[in-house]
Amino acid sequence: FEVTWDIEAAEKGGYEYFMLKEIYEQPKAIKETLSPRVDKENHIVLDDIKLTKEDLEKINKVMIVACGTAYHAGLVGRYAIEKFAKIPVETDVASEFRYRDPFVDENTLFIAISQSGETADTLAALREAKAKGARVMAVTNVVGSRISREADDVFYTWAGPEIAVASTKAYTTQLIAMYLIALNMGIKKGTISKEKYNTVLNELKALPQKAEKLLENKQLIQELADKQFNNQNVFYIGRGIDDHVGREGSLKLKEISYIHSEAIAAGELKHGTIALIEEGTLVVALATQDHLYDKMLSNIQEVRARGAYVIAVAKEGNEEAEKAADVVIYIPDTIDELTPVLSVIPLQVFAYYVAVARGTDVDKPKNLAKSVTVE
Ligand code: G6P
Repeated sequence: FEVTWDIEAAEKGGYEYFMLKEIYEQPKAIKETLSPRVDKENHIVLDDIKLTKEDLEKINKVMIVACGTAYHAGLVGRYAIEKFAKIPVETDVASEFRYRDPFVDENTLFIAISQSGETADTLAALREAKAKGARVMAVTNVVGSRISREADDVFYTWAGPEIAVASTKAYTTQLIAMYLIALNMGIKKGTISKEKYNTVLNELKALPQKAEKLLENKQLIQELADKQFNNQNVFYIGRGIDDHVGREGSLKLKEISYIHSEAIAAGELKHGTIALIEEGTLVVALATQDHLYDKMLSNIQEVRARGAYVIAVAKEGNEEAEKAADVVIYIPDTIDELTPVLSVIPLQVFAYYVAVARGTDVDKPKNLAKSVTVE
């Protein structure tokens, strides 16, 4: 008597794959990660982070180290900490960090991001940073994981169990974690004004509802995926944090659809990648940053002039994108700093439906593991 299938089907709650279920759980996951940390007066309460104002004053450098999707969350974290807390930040993939003899000392804050809290390279990097005297913080989804046990400070993302190998809700909650950590540092150090701090927090609180709204309109993305699933190559372009989100979108697509995809900073196109753009090449262009919007529109024109088919992602109201791109996917309006939480969602949904159209095993892509506990 075999019951495994039935149990699994029940766990999927009516979704064909865990990945889609987890994409749809994001509004809830964001809310559960955020709400317990912010009180009525907009004070951030981080229970397992003991870093005091005095500790913070000593810190002159932050190093964020992670692998895969968590690394992409780290790139946005770098931006948030530099912007709100005015501390220089380096990011590195864990497998590289370890072998480059990085300069770390007791004035360094080391932040490891890891959904599982068990990734071997990330754990080894954490141990190395600790041995060199750094203060070590972990952002993880698993209570009691090795990385959480060895860190001085911990931020738990409350995404709930993530089953699909391709990470979705862990990523968006890691972003929330990084914003809260950065805002908390900024307000303690006095590097962010009270007004800006409140604006960012209020916008953060509005994200679950905006994510919900975004997920109600997956039709267009599904149609695009049904038309575009036969591509050999896909390029993701963006500037600033849009570039970081492009990297995550590209990783999602290659992980589960096995299409070769690559993300680059849009300004780098002209230094190489544009040579690969030809008639029909799919380019996904993220254009959510107001101060970079015109530059992105030019990049879109550049690739279209060479025959690319461009799907742009822009904020609601920014309709000039329609003239430049073939199709525009709109995300609800929010402040520029927080767009990654929303703009990644259509990219996840797109990757998902491309994979479904190609008939891959979406939740268990070949050659990949949920947690890599070997080096
Ligand atoms: C594996 C998974 C990825 C994940 C990466 C880091 O490669 O397939 O989805 O982003 O490990 O995992 P971690 O648990 O450390 O976040």
